[in-house]
Amino acid sequence: MPATDTLSLSVTPQSVTDALHRRRSVRAFTDQPVDPAILGEIFAAAQRAPSGGNLQPWQATVLTGAPWQAVKDAVAARVAMGREGYEPEYDIYPKGLTDPWETRRFGVGEGLYAALGIPRDDKPGRLGQFLHNFRGFGAPVMLFLHCSRIMGPPQWSDMGMWLQSVMLLLVEHGLASCPQECWAMYGATVRRALALGDDQILFTGLAIGYADESAAVNNWPVPRAHLEEVIDWRGFEE
Ligand SMILES: Cc1cc2nc3c(=O)[nH]c(=O)nc-3n(C[C@H](O)[C@H](O)[C@H](O)COP(=O)(O)O)c2cc1C
Repeated sequence: MPATDTLSLSVTPQSVTDALHRRRSVRAFTDQPVDPAILGEIFAAAQRAPSGGNLQPWQATVLTGAPWQAVKDAVAARVAMGREGYEPEYDIYPKGLTDPWETRRFGVGEGLYAALGIPRDDKPGRLGQFLHNFRGFGAPVMLFLHCSRIMGPPQWSDMGMWLQSVMLLLVEHGLASCPQECWAMYGATVRRALALGDDQILFTGLAIGYADESAAVNNWPVPRAHLEEVIDWRGFEE
């Protein structure tokens, strides 16, 4: 299997392994609209995702056109307020993140900015790229994934399984995506714009569209930890 960063983002994968390698977080999209019938097929298949007790706790609001623009406008108004504008749903990262996680987080940021040619001291350049998040990186479709506020860590993990199912199915249809938990920084703003009640909690956005394959931001190697760091084999060598 060639390295993920050299794989085309619009070729139909031949296996789950292939789809896993072709999926990457895409941060530049073309203007090509997405057929809602394809999305319907994808969501129907993603309903096969497993969940503890078969709760299927995931709930999604999928937007394009004017409703999507309305969320972007609502969040842009909060972003313009600076830190005062934050309405966070949850801590995106644990406070005081330590290694190895902090190094991994730092590493992916550095890789992203290097691909875009934005040096470390170019603070406005880095902020500008970060704020591009709140335009969904130009994606024509935005999916907001939320659930009942009563749900706990097991059900949040179920949402993750559904999310990965959707992302792999998008790849199967030649589509691309970027999960975006940054929207949780303005979670209450997003929920108000979507007319979701306070009984709901926003987990993440998922920008959806066709990848701009020529964009540098979609063509850089995203590292992964070595298996020894994450898998502890026991009893296999006896
Ligand atoms: C739940 C979730 C939320 C994420 N939120 C963001 C985000 O807000 N902005 C962003 O640019 N990337 C976001 N990412 C993408 C990660 O940075 C990315 O998955 C990771 O660096 C691995 O890269 P890859 O997805 O290209 O393989 C998120 C990923 C996940 C799974």
